Amino acid sequence: MPDAVYLRCIDPACEKTSDLSSTAYACGACGALLDVAYDWDRLPVPGTLRFFAERWAGRHQPLDFSGVWRFREFLPFAAPDEMVTIGEGQTVLQSPDPAALGLALRRGHLHFQYEGLNPSGSFKDNGMAAALTMARRLGRRRVACASTGNTSASLAMFASLTRSADDRPMQGIVFVGAGKIAYGKLSQALDHGALTLQIDGDFDACMKRIREAADRLGLYIVNSINPFRLEGQKAIMYRVLEGLGWEPPDWIVVPGGNLGNTSAFGKAFIELAELGLIQRLPQIAVVNAAGANTLSELVTHRGLSWNRGYWEKAAVQSYYDELSASGRTAHTVATAIEIARPVNLPKALRTLEAMDGVVCEVTDEEILDDKARIGRVGFGCEPASAAALAGLRQLLRRGVIDSSARVACVLTGHALKDSAATVAYHTGETMETMAGRRPTDLPPLANRPIRVADDLDAICAAIDARTEKD
Ligand code: F0G
Repeated sequence: MPDAVYLRCIDPACEKTSDLSSTAYACGACGALLDVAYDWDRLPVPGTLRFFAERWAGRHQPLDFSGVWRFREFLPFAAPDEMVTIGEGQTVLQSPDPAALGLALRRGHLHFQYEGLNPSGSFKDNGMAAALTMARRLGRRRVACASTGNTSASLAMFASLTRSADDRPMQGIVFVGAGKIAYGKLSQALDHGALTLQIDGDFDACMKRIREAADRLGLYIVNSINPFRLEGQKAIMYRVLEGLGWEPPDWIVVPGGNLGNTSAFGKAFIELAELGLIQRLPQIAVVNAAGANTLSELVTHRGLSWNRGYWEKAAVQSYYDELSASGRTAHTVATAIEIARPVNLPKALRTLEAMDGVVCEVTDEEILDDKARIGRVGFGCEPASAAALAGLRQLLRRGVIDSSARVACVLTGHALKDSAATVAYHTGETMETMAGRRPTDLPPLANRPIRVADDLDAICAAIDARTEKD
């Protein structure tokens, strides 16, 4: 009898399976992406989602504390003593006032899933817990990724805290585009001791090279092309459901880069529906930056769809050929999502079909303004995360999302990841490069620091001029 947990090609015309000892990221027969697949009838799955609320009482146990592994019945590919955790996923759903953000949504209907509170400051830790578990299970020590910054930060942190099955240190290896990632993220990779290769190229170039290097050297890739990474990221949606009393929202809004989250979220909801644990799937809105808009271009403008798995591969290839011929690369202030060739595109198409999804794109200016608005209501996020709010704003304006909808936006990374973008916005110092504005044109929410002499009268006058007396 085959195992209850196995790998399966996502192409319905192939569906070739392999067991978990395989370290391939793509189907050996047809080259498509792989899913971790479960024969749920042979696995112990709780009959109700409330089971997980009860488990929280055992949070003195690291696995029950983990925001990923406390849902382990939904990603049962490892035994409890193999699971790697560093305390990831302690994030809960927050409910900012939509009016304070200028959104026409009902009070209590807007939620932020604030993933910046993870140990390394982004949602990546959810997936990394699962990917490092698999690396250790497979006896691999050299764990590697290409990154726009957050995956590398997360990998570096996990590798520094994890030992291999034979009790030796893990070795993190990260490929980043030289000059392409925010300093906060680069500093994490360096501080946690990852071997950091700055490649003369962008993320897409790094992704191509890491696959080649991994083939030659036998590195274990923990990018979201690794299906186990996505298993961990399903937990973000379990926590959204938990925050809503296990009732799915109407919409999930998420920024789209390499499309790992989009893929993982769809898989999470599809599986919960198959298990009869939810009665309906939320819709999903995936938000691209205008300067890195592959998904938006292909889906919204060229009509690409999953088509039950028979998607038009030639249309994607011809778009990529156009990009190559014109020398066009991704360019956005939201460096985390500066990606032109998202590796999870097919899985994201599948999610869009299952969740009746939409794709939109927002400008750098909109991203930075909404980042500042998010800051004003007390949540710090990096530019890529703010794309979700900017996308929601657009979709409400266009009537795609109704003002009575319940919406969960995923804030993917912490504000301190990219403080340069924040300071540039508020001071105008490098505004031309940040959002195409001239330095004199301060954006609407700019909070420019005031230069004052080291003089008490001048200091008090500056305070009185800009604040109201109690
Ligand atoms: N938001 C942030 C803060 C990210 O770091 C990323 C991706 C995304 C959104 C997009 O998520 O790839 O699942 O669509 N960062 C990757 C990295 C690519 O290397 O850190 P996605």
